[in-house]
Amino acid sequence: MPDSQPHATPAPSEIQFPPGIAWIDGSFVPMSEARIPVLDWGFLRSDATYDVVHVWKNRFFRLDKHLDRFLASVAKLRMSLPFDREGLEALLHETVVKSGLEDAYVEMICTRGHSPTFSRDPRDAINRFIAFAIPFGWIADETQRARGLRMIVASVPRIPAASVDPTVKNYHWLDMVKGLYEAYDRGGENVLLKDLEGFLTEGPGFNLFAVKDGKVHTPDRGVLEGITRQTALDLCRELGIPAQVAPLSMETLTGAEEAFVTSTAGGIVAIASIDGQALPASPGAITRRLSDLYWAKHEDPGWTTPILTR
Ligand SMILES: Cc1ncc(COP(=O)(O)O)c(C=O)c1O
Repeated sequence: MPDSQPHATPAPSEIQFPPGIAWIDGSFVPMSEARIPVLDWGFLRSDATYDVVHVWKNRFFRLDKHLDRFLASVAKLRMSLPFDREGLEALLHETVVKSGLEDAYVEMICTRGHSPTFSRDPRDAINRFIAFAIPFGWIADETQRARGLRMIVASVPRIPAASVDPTVKNYHWLDMVKGLYEAYDRGGENVLLKDLEGFLTEGPGFNLFAVKDGKVHTPDRGVLEGITRQTALDLCRELGIPAQVAPLSMETLTGAEEAFVTSTAGGIVAIASIDGQALPASPGAITRRLSDLYWAKHEDPGWTTPILTR
């Protein structure tokens, strides 16, 4: 008899999850048990916002900035949280402590939730808050971090900012995922998306920087205002490196001396090539200086918050 399930799904008990812990619907559970109801609009409509802060050697990095952005995103989507800011901060500390992790990827999520009557009016939904801490994860593997990412600029444009506000951190990633498959098909490792006018925006989980004539450029529009992007700009100021936040053209990127991406999941990572064309340096001197200072700041009490009760 022909197998009607050529790609059999493993039994639920055999599906692996990373270690860590989640807080959902009022209690802490292992990651394997952290589930949302199928009627949650976060799942059905991507109607959710989230933030990710990292913990490095038992210290949150720039926690205040992540809390500011998350609370602003929740307000912009007209959702509400079961905690005030202090309550949220305390819960994140508790989640990290319970996870037992020293280096962690800590995500907080607010979904629209579900409506008890399956009403189609988002005002009837009961918002849901979830937090979890899992081991620190990277946007690039060790080899890619050492030599830089092979980047492709996709033909699929980024969802217009007028339709989905990119400053509200969101899960509208079908454009990014389509772009990733295009990048893999074209021999790349990761992807950058342009806006409808042809200016560069960002990629799946990171912001973009190009260094031209010794000056650092990053897009001013159509992007999430990444905390690592802000950190890179702060570090440029500290190091006396000129920086410009303005529309970024393909010409500037392909003519750059060096380029890099920024993300909570890995910091400052060099780009080795664009559409198969190698950049002159990867990692370049400025990328290296910024990245070294970025990691040094992880021990600076002004930029970090020790995990409480440790
Ligand atoms: C679309 C997008 N852009 C940029 C970033 C980088 O933001 P941050 O530096 O705050 O991690 C992310 C992070 O996940 C992202 O999802």
